[in-house]
Amino acid sequence: MNILTICGAANKTRNTASMLRSAFNGAMSVPDTTGEFVYLYDLDFKGCVGCHSCKLLDESKFSRCALRDGLTPVLEKAVDADVILIGSPIYFSDITGETRSFLERFFFPATTYNKDRAPTYPKRPKVGWVFTMNAPGEFYKDFLGGLVSMTSRIIGESEYVMAYQTQQFQDYSKYAATMFDVDMVKKRHIEQFPKDCEAAFAMGKRLAGK
Ligand SMILES: Cc1cc2nc3c(=O)[nH]c(=O)nc-3n(C[C@H](O)[C@H](O)[C@H](O)COP(=O)(O)O)c2cc1C
Repeated sequence: MNILTICGAANKTRNTASMLRSAFNGAMSVPDTTGEFVYLYDLDFKGCVGCHSCKLLDESKFSRCALRDGLTPVLEKAVDADVILIGSPIYFSDITGETRSFLERFFFPATTYNKDRAPTYPKRPKVGWVFTMNAPGEFYKDFLGGLVSMTSRIIGESEYVMAYQTQQFQDYSKYAATMFDVDMVKKRHIEQFPKDCEAAFAMGKRLAGK
C-alpha cells in the first residue's frame, strides 16, 4: 500500500496537521505500507491555469497536468497512490486556497468533457479527508458532503472525519475574539480533540487495510 498525505494547512503543529498526522500514522500502522506526508505550503505552485493540455487527445498529453512547478512531483505520486489523505482547515466557508489550487490540478486532468464524463485516472485510490473548523459540526455538512462526493466521483471512494469548535489560540484574552465560549473550546480541545485524532487514525488504518 502506497499512502500519499497532502496537508493543506499553513501551520504544521496545530489542529489540521495534527489530525492529518494521526490519519497518516493509522495508515502507516498497516503492514507493508510506504508513505509520504507533503505540506502544500512548502511548495511553490499555482492552481490550474486552464491551458486544457490535459484534454488533448494526444496520448502524451491526455490526462496529465502540463504545468511544471513544485506540485508536479506530488501529482505524479498521486497517480500511483493506493490511499490519499488530504487535510484542510475551513477558511471562509471553504477549504484553504492552497488546498483548492491542489485540487484543481489533481481533479481537472482526471476528468473529460466527454458525454459519459467518465474519470480518466487508471487507478482509483481511496481518499480520506480531514477537516477542522471553528463552527459547530453541522454548519458545513452540505459543503463537506458535496466536496467528498465530488472526490469519490473523480478520484475514488472517499470519506471524511472532522474536528469542530477547535482551539484557535492558546490565550484568547490576547486577541479580538470575544465571540468564543473559551471554556467550552478549551474543554473540547482537551477532551474531544484527542478523540477526533483517534477517529482520524482509525480512518487511515481502515483505508490502508482495505
Ligand atoms: C483565514 C481564516 C479563515 C477562517 N474561516 C473560518 C470559517 O469560515 N469557518 C470556520 O468554522 N472556521 C474558520 N476559521 C477557523 C479555522 O478553520 C479553525 O481554527 C481551524 O481548526 C484552523 O486549523 P489549524 O489549527 O490547522 O490552523 C478560519 C481561520 C482562518 C485563519
